[in-house]
Amino acid sequence: MTDDPIVWARDYMPIHQSLSAEYGESKPFENCTVAVASHLEYNTGVLIETLHTAGAEVFFTPSEPESTKGEVVEYLDAQNGITAYAEEGMSNEAFSEAQHSLLDERPEIILDDGSELIGKAHECHPDVASEIRGGVEQTTAGITRLEAMEEEGVLQFPVYGANNSPMKHRFDNVHGTGESALTNIAITTNALIAGKRVVIAGYGYVGRGIAQKARSLGARTIVTEVDPRKALEAHMDGHDVMSMDEAAKRGEVFITATGTSSVIREEHIAEMEDGAVLANAGHFDVEIELSALNVLAEDTSKPAKGVTRYHMPDDRRLNLLAEGRLVNLTGPFSKGHPGEVMDTTFAVMFEAAVDLLTTDLTAGLYQVPDRLDRAVADRKLETLGKTIDEPTDEQRTYDSDWRETDTGF
Ligand code: NAI
Repeated sequence: MTDDPIVWARDYMPIHQSLSAEYGESKPFENCTVAVASHLEYNTGVLIETLHTAGAEVFFTPSEPESTKGEVVEYLDAQNGITAYAEEGMSNEAFSEAQHSLLDERPEIILDDGSELIGKAHECHPDVASEIRGGVEQTTAGITRLEAMEEEGVLQFPVYGANNSPMKHRFDNVHGTGESALTNIAITTNALIAGKRVVIAGYGYVGRGIAQKARSLGARTIVTEVDPRKALEAHMDGHDVMSMDEAAKRGEVFITATGTSSVIREEHIAEMEDGAVLANAGHFDVEIELSALNVLAEDTSKPAKGVTRYHMPDDRRLNLLAEGRLVNLTGPFSKGHPGEVMDTTFAVMFEAAVDLLTTDLTAGLYQVPDRLDRAVADRKLETLGKTIDEPTDEQRTYDSDWRETDTGF
């Protein structure tokens, strides 16, 4: 028996073990306060613990009120130098208040998700924002907000956009969300994916991962897009591509992964067949228009844990999972992303935060430097016991020579 709720996650996060061993000695965050806003699940617990081991005083708060695991919060909060602004089952108001209270602690570094803390610091705590040394943003949606802030010229400190880093989006978005979204849909519905017509809205990193994994389970996949190049990519990857107007009539399972709002609207809901399952893997609870479901339905029921059934006047039953919030993070069976992918994502954020302490950057949104991303990849390969080739001197010379006479083109 153990009272340590993150013992299992730790086993699947070997990069963090390696970071703890190295930075637990050098303590780069000594005398530094770090705020973390994230889904407060087991893997995030390991990140917070690693920051603390590396010398930081850590304050943490949820980035989504529904995904908090109370046992993780209690375990971390009981440690000296780690303070929770969180509890399981917070209302939207309490969630927002907690973030503001955390900002009153005047953190120096922010590790953010959805730009929750960075946005609020700029909007409501300008005196705090002016003293923040830097931030690191985890998500696509957060980076979009930061780009808007930069465009308006209001961003007060440097922020690394971790989502744009290859070690984040090529693994976390594609494999982490791909696998965990489908796993949660399967567990919640206890229905087969094999043979189902699965509609995926958005063919970015997340949508592509879901579509490929659904097809490998035997689904007949349909992709909807607004970007013609992404639509063509989906087509050439072998998925059926069509508008949501058309897909709404054909799908049995719908999964949104666009990052934008109202992708499934009233006109689509009106066309869906009896028994359709609706889930969101994008941001917050805005991709499936909940107000439209409520307007169209004459009644709702809860036929299974994590499922809200909307009863339509024409006897169709539409099944919404996890109340339209992130199905892989907020459903009753969700544990967040697999530890291995959060290990790489959080390692990128951790290394970027260490870099902010020593690199002199002006205010603005930055890519995580390639050297940091590669260092995380190297560390990961090392934990896997894998070695790769080094380019030879001859190859380096060949690659850098552009003169026709030298290369023999
Ligand atoms: P992305 O930018 O690579 O892909 C989004 C795609 O959606 C783009 O191809 C875009 O053209 C398409 N799109 C936009 N509006 C659309 C519409 N109305 N209909 C159909 N397609 C549309 O972004 P990525 O990395 O795939 O992330 C997507 C969303 O998933 C973001 O909100 C991100 O924050 C979220 N996310 C969720 C995770 C989770 O754990 N559930 C993990 C990682 C990201």
